[in-house]
Amino acid sequence: MTTIAVTGASGFCGAHVAATAAARGADVLCVGRRPGPVGRHVPWDAAREVPDLSGADLVVHCAAAVGDPVPGSPAEAAMRAVNVDGTSRLLQAAGDRPVVWVSSASVYAPGPGRSRITEDHPVRGHLNAYGRTKAAGEALALAAGAVVLRPRAVYGAGDPHLVPRLLSRVRRGLLMLPGPSVRLSLTAVENLADACLLAADWPPGAYNIADPTPYDRDEALCTVLSAHGVRARIGHIPLLVARAAAGTAETLTRLRPRTEPPLTRYAVDQLAHSVVLDVSKAESQGWKAGRGLLDYAAAVLAR
Ligand SMILES: NC(=O)c1ccc[n+]([C@@H]2O[C@H](COP(=O)([O-])OP(=O)(O)OC[C@H]3O[C@@H](n4cnc5c(N)ncnc54)[C@H](OP(=O)(O)O)[C@@H]3O)[C@@H](O)[C@H]2O)c1
Repeated sequence: MTTIAVTGASGFCGAHVAATAAARGADVLCVGRRPGPVGRHVPWDAAREVPDLSGADLVVHCAAAVGDPVPGSPAEAAMRAVNVDGTSRLLQAAGDRPVVWVSSASVYAPGPGRSRITEDHPVRGHLNAYGRTKAAGEALALAAGAVVLRPRAVYGAGDPHLVPRLLSRVRRGLLMLPGPSVRLSLTAVENLADACLLAADWPPGAYNIADPTPYDRDEALCTVLSAHGVRARIGHIPLLVARAAAGTAETLTRLRPRTEPPLTRYAVDQLAHSVVLDVSKAESQGWKAGRGLLDYAAAVLAR
């Protein structure tokens, strides 16, 4: 039986990876500060120590410090300790074992020009500490010969990030978004988990991972809101106004460095430009995304 070490299995994506691996018959080690949903817990604080990966045949690294702190803020050092130094410690422990390193499409350079991006799109110009530290961590993983997966906006059961944030942004039946609607790739957590478990056999390098087709932003968000029983109209803030508000929020947050701004240039960038991931490289390895947003909406409504 294959033994798979999954880091971050107490979190959203890692829990799905660990549960899917166990359902497919693997022995699972959940490596992290807290246990995962299945398997044996191997304690590890990525910010401090080298993990014990004894017995593992392969490693899927989902652990990361996530969030949207301003670049250069004290929070960036804490993120770096996990996303960069923690990666280095993980790679050291992994040795010759295959490593699948879960990265993010947040590593790609912001701005326009992402209406269909391959893995060669530039990795630079990050607007927050998350993008910067994920890019630095994945550079270490790539240099060590890992397979690096770049999902975008992962959604699914147990998501503690996107859907709660979206629901909290609806005020008086109105959701305000920057600029007119755009095309966006999103990644169902089941599609990511499937890729994580197949990718150990792929040639080393980076792979975009997303649902089969991109979504119209406004339609997709309405689909999610209505699945959660929230009726809301979408309003559009001019892009320049949204950018200026985000810049001001970030400047004010620098005065209270341990907090995250309510609106950031990163969030505006992620919502206001088309970002479509070309997944043909992963598909050429035999992976095919099977789930989409309508499956998620149906599952939420059936609960
Ligand atoms: N969710 C998305 O939309 C999205 C999009 C693109 C890429 N990703 C990537 O997917 C991966 C998983 O993200 P997620 O959404 O599942 O985040 P999450 O729910 O916040 O889970 C993060 C995991 O990392 C672990 N972790 C954090 N600091 C740690 C430390 N010091 N030592 C050990 N473990 C630590 C957490 O463990 P604790 O329980 O101990 O805190 C948790 O298990 C990340 O690499 C993220 O960059 C996510």
